[in-house]
Amino acid sequence: MSDRQIAAIVLAAGLGTRMKSATPKVLHRVAGKPMIGHILTALDGFDADRTIVVVSPGMPQVAEFVAPAVTVEQDPPLGTGHAVMAARDALSGFEGDVLVLFGDTPLLTGETMRAMVEARRGPDNPAVVVLGFRPDDPSEYGRLVQGGDGSLEQIVEARDATEPQRAIPLCNAGIMAIDGARLVDLLDAIGNDNAKNEYYLTDIVAIARARGWNCSVVETDDPDEVMGVNSRAGLAEAEAAMQKRLRAHWMAEGVTLTDPETVWFSTDTVLGRDVTVGQNVVFGPGVTIGDNVDIRPFCHVEGATVEDDAIIGPYARLRPGADIGREVHIGNFVEVKEARLDEGAKANHLSYIGDSFVGAGANIGAGTITCNYDGFLKARTEIGAGAFIGSNTALVAPVRVGNGAITGAGSTITTDVEENALAVTRAPQKDLAGWALKYRVRKQAEKTTKKKAG
Ligand code: UD1
Ligand code: MG
Repeated sequence: MSDRQIAAIVLAAGLGTRMKSATPKVLHRVAGKPMIGHILTALDGFDADRTIVVVSPGMPQVAEFVAPAVTVEQDPPLGTGHAVMAARDALSGFEGDVLVLFGDTPLLTGETMRAMVEARRGPDNPAVVVLGFRPDDPSEYGRLVQGGDGSLEQIVEARDATEPQRAIPLCNAGIMAIDGARLVDLLDAIGNDNAKNEYYLTDIVAIARARGWNCSVVETDDPDEVMGVNSRAGLAEAEAAMQKRLRAHWMAEGVTLTDPETVWFSTDTVLGRDVTVGQNVVFGPGVTIGDNVDIRPFCHVEGATVEDDAIIGPYARLRPGADIGREVHIGNFVEVKEARLDEGAKANHLSYIGDSFVGAGANIGAGTITCNYDGFLKARTEIGAGAFIGSNTALVAPVRVGNGAITGAGSTITTDVEENALAVTRAPQKDLAGWALKYRVRKQAEKTTKKKAG
């Protein structure tokens, strides 16, 4: 690209009233990440010289989330044009190309941003380039009014449009690339004489045309990419579109999804080659999976690392800090949190392993619980390599089981167990011959007497 500079202004000050939420709209999550985070990530690959996020004073969480990006306050929010005006001081002296983005269009890609900037630098030197798309249901979107030569004449908001204008299928995605040298002049001319009494950014197109400047449209053929989220229903649609994109991506990278529609990724999920993911698996944020891992149906995995050749599930839960080594098996109804399992360790049934280290090849029996919390503080459990933890063992942390040691089924282990020792804490078994038979006879007699009396 040329050596002209690029500034990105991300609008995020709108109240988002249609979300009916205490959380600012742009912080609602899509694929595990706030919507505005998706825009900032797309910008990362884009090398903008300045990024300015426009926020409202009532939403410090947005400024906090986008830091270290510069934020400017728009107080009160009086429309998208007014929002760009709020970034004016932060832009002073800037003469390159200004990309205006919305914090509520999480599926926008860096490639489209680049195409917009390239069009802005095209031979017809447009003052404004607008991203257009043809949604299935254009109802709420602004309509792009074109001249006979295909150039852009005007944008009309749906509420302000005439009947024939409402019939225009080409809509405003909201994203614009604007010549920085002409931006302030255009912004200054925006009024608020419209259905919402707002300063619409979209008005700059007609203003530019009146000054004899060109405006043009870059059209995207993927309406999903520019979906603007205004409501909870819209959020669910954006989530569905993002999941579709992530599923296609991971299959293209060599992952088998047995039933793609039922697997839910986070945007930062990383999967190796020849991973198989069964039905109904959910990946929360912060997951990295190695090669040849088999994730069986109905697992929930979040903040976890899984090394090559491991088998997870079905019905397993890996929570943050789960660090699963090569060839480890985590079976059904096993929950792992903040714990490392070294190569080949197995926890196949009904266990909780938290704040722990499990050595290579150790076997954790069914029903084993690491009792890591005393109601006030967490403590660690260490299980040595090759240890065998009997079924239904309670390991009361802090506690350490040495390499190769065995704990007897049903034991409650409260002190350290030496290497290769056996620790059993069960009460000795007592057998009373014939007791069960006598018991049944006595109880049946009691029941019969009671029935007769009643
Ligand atoms: C806007 C466009 C519309 C387009 C649609 C695409 C205008 C006037 N309309 O409408 O043509 O089809 O997006 O999704 O631009 N914001 C501020 N300050 C404000 C108002 C909004 O920062 O005062 C931010 C919002 O946080 C949001 C973005 O601007 O990120 C868009 O605002 P929104 O209210 O969603 O505009 P739409 O009505 O969707
Ligand atoms: Mg919107």
